[in-house]
Amino acid sequence: MTDARTMAGRFGMSDRARLVVAGAGLFGSEHLRMLAAWPDVAVVGVADANAEAAEAAASRFGVAETATDAIELTERLRPDGLIVATPGPTHVAIAGHALGLGIPVLVEKPVAMSVADAAKLAAMAEASDGFVLPGHVLRFSEPHRRFAGIVRSAAVGTILSVTARRHRDDSHARRYTEDPVLMTMVHDIDLALWLTGGEAMPRKVLATRRPAGTSRSETLATVTGATGAVWRLATAWTFPIESCPSDRIEVVGENGSAELDVDGTIRVFGTEPQTIEVTIDYDAALHAEHMHFVDCLRSGKPPETVTLREAITGLAVAEAAMASIGNGDVVITAG
Ligand SMILES: NC(=O)c1ccc[n+]([C@@H]2O[C@H](COP(=O)([O-])OP(=O)(O)OC[C@H]3O[C@@H](n4cnc5c(N)ncnc54)[C@H](O)[C@@H]3O)[C@@H](O)[C@H]2O)c1
Repeated sequence: MTDARTMAGRFGMSDRARLVVAGAGLFGSEHLRMLAAWPDVAVVGVADANAEAAEAAASRFGVAETATDAIELTERLRPDGLIVATPGPTHVAIAGHALGLGIPVLVEKPVAMSVADAAKLAAMAEASDGFVLPGHVLRFSEPHRRFAGIVRSAAVGTILSVTARRHRDDSHARRYTEDPVLMTMVHDIDLALWLTGGEAMPRKVLATRRPAGTSRSETLATVTGATGAVWRLATAWTFPIESCPSDRIEVVGENGSAELDVDGTIRVFGTEPQTIEVTIDYDAALHAEHMHFVDCLRSGKPPETVTLREAITGLAVAEAAMASIGNGDVVITAG
């Protein structure tokens, strides 16, 4: 990130950022819907391996150019930024190519399928004028940010444990080839890293899955974080209908505890108990993520809200959890 163009920002403050979106499936369409309603950006192209999906999205969201090959479209349109919302196994090739052209990328979670692949992406970012913003959207959610402020305060004190559940309906087991750890638990791994203080590698991971050998199952992981705080993470892709128990995260500390339930409540227990009503607004969180991406494009400064290095640490925990599921052993992630 050294050339004059980058340091000065990529385009004028009043210019609309020209973006391309790769992947027009469920979540790519969410990106497109939010971007179409935001006058600061122009989505100039959408790519999807399925031509009908690309064309349907282009017509729905008023995008001029389509392609089945995201790399070809990026090469042709040279956007200011690329949003990668294709399946995980395709992320590194599509994002890496854009970085090679000096184009910054917002890459959906998981940024890569392995730490080794994510390290390749990091090397490509290092050699590029571009950067990677990992799409860990919950870091941009106002209630989650408020919760993070509370759990890091004296009301909770030194964090002893983080307990999270994130259950999904069993269509996930049919729709996604990716492991539930990489698709769903990765959100709570990232939240636990964030809440307990950053990038430092957790010490060990033990995970189990029942029933074994299928992603229509419950996955449970116990992680000893770098600070010694123990994370207990659960995700089940077993629910027959979309209505599942609400996502919930609890942090217990030496002075009290706090919990966030996405049904709309933060509760704090301790010397000054309180209940705070919150509205979880995923559209607002995605918009805030887009704003951070475009701010970074404009300023030429790399992302701060969530970094590729943090995403790689999260991936290392996910990889250890999947290894532990496979061999039943505790996986030591850091000495
Ligand atoms: N941040 C979040 O909360 C969140 C939520 C859901 C999904 N996601 C992530 O978004 C990504 C996409 O998930 P989804 O639910 O939209 O999946 P999806 O299966 O609904 O859509 C993926 C789309 O990508 C297209 N595609 C596949 N390979 C491609 C390629 N090489 N080039 C271009 N297009 C290609 C497919 O045709 C499909 O339309 C995944 O990485 C997923 O983990 C993030």
